[in-house]
Amino acid sequence: MGRNIILIGMMGSGKSTIGKLLAEKLDGYNLADIDEEIEKSTQSKISEIFLKHGEPFFRMLEAEKIRMFCKKENLVISAGGGAFEADENRRIMKENGIVIYLKASAEALYERIKNETHRPLLKKNFSVEKIENILKLREINYNKADYKIDTSDKTPYNIVQEILRIVNDRNSR
Ligand code: S3P
Repeated sequence: MGRNIILIGMMGSGKSTIGKLLAEKLDGYNLADIDEEIEKSTQSKISEIFLKHGEPFFRMLEAEKIRMFCKKENLVISAGGGAFEADENRRIMKENGIVIYLKASAEALYERIKNETHRPLLKKNFSVEKIENILKLREINYNKADYKIDTSDKTPYNIVQEILRIVNDRNSR
C-alpha cells in the first residue's frame, strides 16, 4: 500500500513529463494526470472548457477529479498549475499523498511554453512578466508542498532520481 505522489507547480514546470517517467520507475504505481482525466471524462479539451464554460466551471471539474484520484493509492498524480490554490484541494492532496512542488523561474517557464498554444490562462498578453505575476501569487501556496525541487538546469532523469530518493527515504523511516 503506497502513498500517492502528487506533483504540483506552474504550467511548463514538467509535471506531466516527470509524472510519466516517475510512474514508470515506481513499481506498482500508475499515473493520473488530472487535466487528461478531465479531458477524457468531458470529451473536451481544457481550452474548450475554459472558452465555453469559464474558469470556475473548470475549477469545479478539477476539484472533483482531485477528490476522486486522491482517494486511491499508488498513484503518481500530476495536477494542473492552479490546482493547489483552493484550500480544499490543498487539504485533500496533503492528506492523501506526498506533495512535491516542481519549481522553475518565470524565464525558464516562458522558454518551455512559448511555442505552445493550448494554455488558456496564457492566451492573452503572454510574456515573462505575466508568468512572473501568476507565479508570485501562487508561490505562497506552492511553498506549502511537502518538498520543493528546483528544476532549473536539471534533466527530467535527474529530477525523477531526486523524487525517488525522497520516496525511498520516507519509506525506510
Ligand atoms: C492551469 C494549468 C493547466 C490547466 C489549466 C489551468 C493553471 O495545467 O490545468 O489550463 O491554472 O495554471 P498545466 O499546469 O498542466 O499546464
